Amino acid sequence: MDSALTVRLVDWHAHRAELHAIRRAVFIEEQRVPEELEWDEVDARCGHVLAFSPEDAPIGTGRLLPDGSIGRMAVLKAWRGRGVGSAILGMLLSLARKEGFDAVRLHAQTHAVGFYAKHGFAVTGDEFMEAGIPHRTMMLRLEPQRGEG
Ligand SMILES: CC(C)(COP(=O)(O)OP(=O)(O)OC[C@H]1O[C@@H](n2cnc3c(N)ncnc32)[C@H](O)[C@@H]1OP(=O)(O)O)[C@@H](O)C(=O)NCCC(=O)NCCS
Repeated sequence: MDSALTVRLVDWHAHRAELHAIRRAVFIEEQRVPEELEWDEVDARCGHVLAFSPEDAPIGTGRLLPDGSIGRMAVLKAWRGRGVGSAILGMLLSLARKEGFDAVRLHAQTHAVGFYAKHGFAVTGDEFMEAGIPHRTMMLRLEPQRGEG
């Protein structure tokens, strides 16, 4: 990722507006996910990552749920293909290790299976529909990291 781009772990309550804006643009407007399916009560209990442009504008996000699964990975269209999604995923995986999970699971949109596979995730089941979009469950076993904890 371009060194002028940054990713940070952020507090849901303090950064709710930025997190909402990215997810609205990507999931509700671009992917036509019904608004009532996008927002849930789990957000307040998740770890959230925000990516920022060199001008410090929020450009991507993702969350780690209390059960150790990853979700809501979204990078604004104009910023894709530059390593932003990978940096967000990397930070969520570090957080999962720190929290003691030995594996993480996610529901990958089928078109994004290749993205997660590049990061070591393997498909564990058949395709299914969620929010009107085809998905596959994927899993990654985590090795404990030295120097963290
Ligand atoms: C999926 C998403 C988060 C990836 O973010 P990104 O910033 O574009 O990803 P990166 O630039 O870090 O890509 C890393 C690698 O994965 C590859 N990749 C990215 N998106 C991919 C996709 N949809 N399918 C296959 N490979 C993909 C890239 O080519 C890149 O490969 P490289 O390292 O060999 O160049 C982004 O495309 C996105 O927000 N999509 C719309 C929302 C969405 O579908 N979210 C996923 C829900 S499960």
